[in-house]
Amino acid sequence: MECLFQRTRLTRSTQNAERKMHIAIVMDGNGRWAKQRFMPRVAGHRQGVEALRRCIRACARRDVQALTVFAFSSENWNRPLDEVSALIRLLGKALAREVPELNTNGVRLYFAGDRQPLPEHLRNELARAECATAANRRMVLTVCFNYGGRWDIVQAAARLAAQGQPITEAALSGALALAHVHDPDLLIRTGGELRISNFLLWQCAYSELYFSDKLWPDFDEAALDEALAAYRARERRFGRTTEQMQRSA
Ligand code: IPE
Ligand code: IPE
Ligand code: MG
Repeated sequence: MECLFQRTRLTRSTQNAERKMHIAIVMDGNGRWAKQRFMPRVAGHRQGVEALRRCIRACARRDVQALTVFAFSSENWNRPLDEVSALIRLLGKALAREVPELNTNGVRLYFAGDRQPLPEHLRNELARAECATAANRRMVLTVCFNYGGRWDIVQAAARLAAQGQPITEAALSGALALAHVHDPDLLIRTGGELRISNFLLWQCAYSELYFSDKLWPDFDEAALDEALAAYRARERRFGRTTEQMQRSA
């Protein structure tokens, strides 16, 4: 099922603060959150969905323009089958439940990732949810499911090659799964690990990185504000010098 709405690329604004910001999050630590409570890992994933709901609301309230979250990586197929099945079921359940609230909050939903291996009913639901929220303009939420940064670069390059197009930076950016949003300004990873785990490899070339020791289900509004405060204290130079930045301010 293809959505009839066009993918429209959001334009980047130089206005400061959270307005027009794109935040990407590696939501890590659900399993450890559950383990600390002697609960099954899937209970941690369920709490992870709750944390995501809160985070979406908090970001929309702060006028964040785009939020992109890593929900299931290409490598997560390596987990035990029952955990993989539970994660796929959770996505289906969350979709059925969350679309009305996304509409209330003006959130447009996209999925990024390889949909091919997902069950057909889920692929249809993903497309339906994208269509059902396509008119929303307040914030764009991209859920990366069965997503890998390497997969993304390869699928984009293969698409350009099949069309006989030259592979330039602009063309490749436009063929990636996140072509509808500008590159993330801030990449947050919860759960204490200091790695990217094959997330947005191309798009995070100049993102500010922020690592939190909090496990994802515990990442609340205050933690988000701490991350935003840390981001605001950074100087984004894009290869220039501090003196150049001060002159152009
Ligand atoms: C992140 O939490 C969610 C997914 C990868 C689906 P984890 O399940 O990786 O949690 P930890 O890292 O084991 O605590
Ligand atoms: C990254 O977390 C993927 C998601 C959050 C969906 P992982 O827990 O799978 O990452 P690694 O395997 O520890 O690097
Ligand atoms: Mg993990």
